[in-house]
Amino acid sequence: MERIIRIGGDLYTLTEYGKPVFGEKIISYMGKRARHWDPKRSKLAAAIMKGMDVMPLNADSSVLYLGASTGTTVSYLSDICINGKIFAVEVSFESFYKLLSLAEKRKNIIPILEDANIPERYSFFVEKPDLIYQDIAQRNQVQIFNANADKFPEVKKAILIIKTRSISSRLNEKDILSEALSGLKEFSVVRRYNLSPYDQANYLLYLER
Ligand SMILES: C[S@@+](CC[C@H](N)C(=O)[O-])C[C@H]1O[C@@H](n2cnc3c(N)ncnc32)[C@H](O)[C@@H]1O
Repeated sequence: MERIIRIGGDLYTLTEYGKPVFGEKIISYMGKRARHWDPKRSKLAAAIMKGMDVMPLNADSSVLYLGASTGTTVSYLSDICINGKIFAVEVSFESFYKLLSLAEKRKNIIPILEDANIPERYSFFVEKPDLIYQDIAQRNQVQIFNANADKFPEVKKAILIIKTRSISSRLNEKDILSEALSGLKEFSVVRRYNLSPYDQANYLLYLER
């Protein structure tokens, strides 16, 4: 059964967990629990609402997630990849503290308090991920992605969020995006989604090596 479903135009993930993470609605659906996924709170949900027609995640996927923050999107990947693992890297201690409390309740989230600029510090205990998911709103976001792609050569698929306004606040958004993407070393863009109106100046790219 698909783990991402639409009910009445809204997006949900099937979940094994009965309690909401941040107050979101959980309903019963065909004898299972379904958790509401708000496209304004999660860029992957926004891309699906914008017509994303490839889903490189399944129940068994393992994900290296860079820029986990407090774990909002991580919690949905934890629902989707229920038999896999989410290795969730976050550099800010304040956000990490909440992520840690989420990981205590969900068995497939492994929180890592580290800087994604230095994958050498965590690559040794991240077990063969199938996908890199990166959502780091920093000027050097493509460089961070390249460093991780280099350190995890077995990964063939990636989801990369580019926040254009973190790269430049002056230049035209499309120019910033194409300049940023020209810096990708080993991966090519297969799909691109502008996340407006759910999220401004954010693009979700699906990449393959
Ligand atoms: C836009 S937020 C991520 C939101 C999250 N992906 C979600 O959808 O729930 C970006 C996060 O990247 C983190 N971050 C920034 N630089 C980082 C770095 N070098 N290594 C790891 N995390 C970083 C920030 O602390 C912030 O929590």
